[in-house]
Amino acid sequence: MTDFIKDPVILMPERHPEPVFSTEELVFTAEETRQIATWVSQYPTADGAIMKVLWMAQEKFGFLPPEVIRLSAGALGMPYARAFGVATFYTQYFKSKKGRYVLDVCTCFSCQICGGYDMLHYLEEKLGAHAGETTDDGLFTIQEVECLGACGSAPMLQITNGPYVMNLTEEKIDALIDALKRDQLPFFSSVTLPQDEDDLGGNRRTDVRDTLTYSAPPVAKTLG
Ligand code: FES
Repeated sequence: MTDFIKDPVILMPERHPEPVFSTEELVFTAEETRQIATWVSQYPTADGAIMKVLWMAQEKFGFLPPEVIRLSAGALGMPYARAFGVATFYTQYFKSKKGRYVLDVCTCFSCQICGGYDMLHYLEEKLGAHAGETTDDGLFTIQEVECLGACGSAPMLQITNGPYVMNLTEEKIDALIDALKRDQLPFFSSVTLPQDEDDLGGNRRTDVRDTLTYSAPPVAKTLG
């Protein structure tokens, strides 16, 4: 079994990396520009739409290198530094290329005391990659993330900003990785979230059932 030692040094992003996209590629289409104008109209000031514009840019370009953040900021007439601050605050915005599946393992307080780090380290050893790294085959990126709002179902992880896998166990991680390698999602038994309580007749803590929210897992549009 690999003996992982986490690198305590957190590298800052390069300030002036080589651009990934050419000037010709760095444009929003007329339709995207119209969409941005609609979002802008919904906020008191244009910069209120930055999260939606960054999200759209990530959908379009796959991730958010500096030149894409700059394009997004420019579309709203706001300083690059402020858009950069938003993009780098949230792990859901990808600042670098990711694997086909991004596995966000929560190690925030509730998940931590319920074994979040055990799950993270199990996943790291299983995939042979540290948190923040992508597996050599380009299939998986592991990220250690803050609370994703499912503390009642800790420990948990999220797949590529999509479905949650809750009440994690090593067996569940095994089933998940096997399924994702086939571009599928297994059925998961998870304690329900509060918003499901009405549908399921309440009794949140004991009403455990199989859930399937996606027929196909969401894929990060980067390494293919
Ligand atoms: S602490 Fe993990 S979801 Fe809240």
